[in-house]
Order: sequence, then C-alpha cells, then structure tokens
Amino acid sequence: MKKRIKNWPGIIVMVLCLALILACPGYSQNIQQQPQHETQKYIWLDELGAENALEGWGETNANKSIDGNPLTISGQKYDRGLGTHAPASYRIKLDGKARRFTAMVGIDDEIISDKHDYYKNALVEFLIISYNKNTTPRNRVLWQSGPMKVNEPAKKVNVNLEGVTLLKLIVTDGGNGINYDHADWADAKIEYAAAKPQPVKPYVSKHYILTPPPGPEPRINGARIFGVRPGSPFLFTIAATGKRPITFSAKGLPEGLELNSKTGFIRGVIAKKDTYYVTLIATNDVGSAERDFRIVVGDEICLTPPMGWNSWNCWGCSVTEEHIRASARAMVDKGLINHGWTYINIDDCWMIKPGDDPVVGGKARDDNGMPRSNKKFPDMKALTDYIHSLGLKAGIYTSPGPYTCQEFVGSYGYEAQDAKQFAEWGFDYLKYDWCYYSKIAKDRSLNELKKPYLIMRDELLKQKRDIVYSLCQYGMGEVWKWGEEVGGNCWRTTGDIIDTWGSMSSIGFSQGKCSPYAKPGHWNDPDMLVVGNVGWGENLHPSRLTPDEQYTHISLWCLLCAPLLIGCPIEQLDDFTLNLLTNDEVLEINQDPLGDQANPLVVEEEFQVWAKQMEDGSLAVGLFNMDGYEHNIIKIEWSQLGIKGRHRVRDLWRQKDLGIFNNHFEAKVPPHGVVLVRMVKN
Ligand code: GAL
Repeated sequence: MKKRIKNWPGIIVMVLCLALILACPGYSQNIQQQPQHETQKYIWLDELGAENALEGWGETNANKSIDGNPLTISGQKYDRGLGTHAPASYRIKLDGKARRFTAMVGIDDEIISDKHDYYKNALVEFLIISYNKNTTPRNRVLWQSGPMKVNEPAKKVNVNLEGVTLLKLIVTDGGNGINYDHADWADAKIEYAAAKPQPVKPYVSKHYILTPPPGPEPRINGARIFGVRPGSPFLFTIAATGKRPITFSAKGLPEGLELNSKTGFIRGVIAKKDTYYVTLIATNDVGSAERDFRIVVGDEICLTPPMGWNSWNCWGCSVTEEHIRASARAMVDKGLINHGWTYINIDDCWMIKPGDDPVVGGKARDDNGMPRSNKKFPDMKALTDYIHSLGLKAGIYTSPGPYTCQEFVGSYGYEAQDAKQFAEWGFDYLKYDWCYYSKIAKDRSLNELKKPYLIMRDELLKQKRDIVYSLCQYGMGEVWKWGEEVGGNCWRTTGDIIDTWGSMSSIGFSQGKCSPYAKPGHWNDPDMLVVGNVGWGENLHPSRLTPDEQYTHISLWCLLCAPLLIGCPIEQLDDFTLNLLTNDEVLEINQDPLGDQANPLVVEEEFQVWAKQMEDGSLAVGLFNMDGYEHNIIKIEWSQLGIKGRHRVRDLWRQKDLGIFNNHFEAKVPPHGVVLVRMVKN
C-alpha cells in the first residue's frame, strides 16, 4: 500500500529552502560549518589568559609550569593548562548555562630536586567554588581535591556548571605554608552553551598616599618606654617631627644621663635599678610638645619591638660597608629617625668565607680566635662609631653553626670570642641564625634546639653592653614557647619572607598562634619588611606587593608587635614607601608599651579582623580584605570585639576621626587592603 503524504505545506517549504540554499553560496557555507561550531563550544583555561591569575609566588604560565617547564604531574605531561603557585586563584564569569569544567590537577614534578628533600613538604588543595553574592553562603564548594602531595597522580576534575555565574578556581597552601607549592590546572577547559566564559581581571591597585605630612609644630614620636641594664651604655634618641631647629629638654632624667638639647640624643650610664618617670619636651618657634617617658633600669631590654633596617632583603650577600653607611645616613636625611627608627643591621656575608677569594677569603680569626671581617668591611669599629654618631644603633649577624647560611664563618666553638668582639666593636643587636648548626645538632629535640641559643645568651650577658638578641631558626620547635627562656628578645616564627602576597599574607595571618607569647622584651618575629626596593643581591626591584598589600603588610606587622626591619635601601625610598614608614599613629600601635600582640577575631575566606589592646584602654583594629578581586564591606560587631557602648573610631592611616559608633563599625576595604582604626571609649 502506498503511504499517503499528509504534510504537503511542509514539503513545499522544505523544497523552497533547498532552492534558496543552492542559490546562496554564503548560506550553504554557514550550514556546513554548523557541526564544527557546535564542537567548539568549549574554551581552554589557558585561552582565558594566565595574566588573570593571582598566585603566591612567581607568575602563572599558560601551558607551562610556574617555573616555565612542561606541565608534568606524577610523570604525566600535559600540553595545555595553567601552571601556578599556591595560594592561587582564578575567576571566571559564566552565564549560568555553562556545562562543565574538566581538568587534571596536582603538584608539578619540577619541584623534585636531588639535593634537598624540603620539596617533600609541598602540600596543596584545589578547590572549585561557585560564588553568588545573593545567596547564603556566598561560596558553594563544587569540588575539592583534598590535600595533595608531590608525586601524587593527578586528580580528575569533572564539575557540572549548571547555574554557576561566577566560578572560582582556588589552590590553597594545604595549611603548611607556601614553600614548593607548584600547582597545575592541566588539560583544564570549560564547556559552555551560550555566552563565552570571561576571565575576571584582578584588581589593579594604584599608589596612593594616606599619611598626612607632619605639621610644623613639634610632635614627639617613638617609644614611650625604654629598658636598659644597670651599668650599660645608654643611647636613646628623642624622635620628633616639626620645623627645625627643635630644642630638646627633659624633666626627671635619672642621674648619669645627659641630653643634648640640639640633637635630642640622651646618653650616659645609670647605675641603679629602678623605674624613672621622665617628661620629654620638644620646642620650636611654632610651639612645644611634651611626652611621658619611662626608663626602666633592670634585667629587661627591648621593651618595645625593635625598629630599624637590615641589609638582607635588599643587598643580600652583595652587601658592603658603603651600603650600610648609605642607609644609616638616609635614615637621618629622609627623616625616619624622627619617627623612632633606630637600628642599622648588617646581615650575612660581612665575615670571612673559607677559601682564597681576594675580597671575602682569608684567615677567619686572629691569633686569639677573635673574628675578622672581610675586605668589604675594613673597619667595624669606625662603622659603628659612625652609626652611633647619627643617634642610631648598630646590629650584626652570625650563626651558632660552623658556617652561616651563605657559608661564611660562623660562631661554633668561638661564641665567647664573638660576643666579646661584637661588644668591643660597639654592636647593639645580634641576629643569631641557625643555618649550619643543623649539621651539629644531634636531632631536633627541644634540648638540641635550645642549646646553641643558651650558649650565646650567656656570652652576651657577660658583655658590658646591651645587645638585643634576635633568634633566627625559622620557628622550629615552636620557638615562640621558649624563645624567652633562652634569652631571646625576638625570634623568627617562620621561614624567609619574599615580596609576594602569598608569602607575606601566609606568614602574617598565621601569627595568631604565637600571640600569647609576645610581651615587652620578647617578640614574635614574622621576618623583615618587603616594601620599597628589594632583591636579595645586586639587582633590586620595587616590591611586587600591590600598594594595598603594602598597607596591609605594615598594618599587620604593627598589630603583631613585630620587629619592624626595613628591607630596602633607605637612600632609595620613594614617597609612597616613605608614607608607609612614617605614619606615627600607625607606628604607635607597634610601639605601645603594653606589648599586647593582636589576635584574629574573625577569620573568613574573604576577610579577617584582628584586634590589639592598647595601654590606654583603646583597641587597635585591622579590617583586612583577603579578596584580590573585589572591594569588600567588612563589618565588626562590638560583641565580637568584646567592647560595649559609644566608641570614637579613628582611621589611623588617614589620621582622621570617623565618628562615634554604638554597636558596630563597618568599612569598605580594597582588595588585599586594610582599614586600620583605633577605637576609644567615648
Ligand atoms: C636566612 C635568614 C635570612 C637571612 C639569610 C642570610 O636563614 O632567615 O633572614 O639572614 O639566612 O643568609
């Protein structure tokens, strides 16, 4: 039987269409392309641009690892993807109709080296998050790798993107710091149906100056309390801004001290243990300022965190005496001394390096075993005399091991001679860096960790000079719990800092655990500052921290009562960096006599709030935006701060009152930036 054709009108339309197609070559071409277009509805992550990634170290690469090698996870090579470094993030805007994100993720094999096995500690976690501002919670985890180690086979990601409008690709440091965290998003692509996925560009922060210039009238800055041992030489410079000349005077200075009325240097020796209550006065032709100042003569020194400069983060091992003199001179010329900056510290590489190098080689010690400096430092005594003549203090560095980290001669077996020589040279500060003591220590037991530090403590205490004792052993054995017991005035709590958000923020925001152990005379040290020009050698570059990240760095270090050691050549300071280092209301947070280290009160993925108790009863509060892409409004309730009632809130960077607040405070904070306030009961 013949089938009856029912749909005549349809057939006519089809025939007409066919005729049109044949008559119109362009149209027929389009149709031929249709299937190809369909299969191309995906985009590779590397096509969205490596430059839109935020990473903790280095620069994210397209189709290569962070170090520029082929992407390789556990022996498997991949042609495409992003090679990044934790903490890393990438953001992609979608239209809610995208289909799926697929990838292979893991730690790149490039970290595996034969020489050291530190790379084995590498640990990361990959997170894929859907973000929506209008839902609670705003972040929904779509996939999570769990902690991943080196050599672990890549994990396969296959995530449904239906309904997702903002996709966050995150790599965390796995909770153990960022070292060796080279992380790959290999073979990563997004399948989409309608709108093409678009990368979100990270926020670009501009340089902007917040610190108001000091007025012409005198203002006394710096420490309000100072500790000295009886019989030790006393040197304190009254830090003051205002139009020069300023005439300095003081009421209640103890016997044995003399104040130079032109320079503001107080020198001498105090014989008797006691606390002396002094009033410092600074006068110029515009006005006069007074400030209470306590001199505590006793066993404790370093009653406020040391503020100064250190050669390592800029000059590294290329340091010379000229570099030291230039920074000392500039400390005065650029006016930093007027804000309380005091120490000029030489780091590694001033001593002899075994071998016959004409500059640094030679005989390490004289016939009495006293250490010799290399040719870059021809006269240590003349150098410290120069530093002291400027009203500043001098610091030096060595290791309890036979060698320093740069393989120069250390103090092992010569601790008595070294301490004596440092005192005779006139040093006021010693950084004692573990380095090659690792070859001497039998194990990493607490006894072995403490041993070398106790030996040097005893030798330092024999000297007729107060020498700030700075332990550097990267936090081993939770040094914050026993640093004081071995005589430390400060102790490094972490490995070395570098000038990236990942390094600075992972160090700074992990200091809460050390907070209970900070107090006057004994400070946690999250390492030196990475603002200005840094480089760890001859070639310097401007800090890679964004301006907002630099405000965060200084604010956080002040809240943490951290030693503030500038790591850039002072003579090269630009206006922006100078603004970071000369805000007296911000520095006052660091130098507060109570010595209370801030605690984290709110820790969220997008923001954190830290608060520090001040001696006058006020609170210093930092609102930190952890997000690198967007401004955040950060709100803190009085109940979270543990306060009640009306409080006057002052913005410390801008030095401006923001008003009276009753039960909460909120501020709009730029990406990776901070709003730092002080809250005073009203
Ligand atoms: C490191 C130390 C650095 C620097 C360097 C010098 O161990 O953490 O701050 O002193 O040694 O070699």
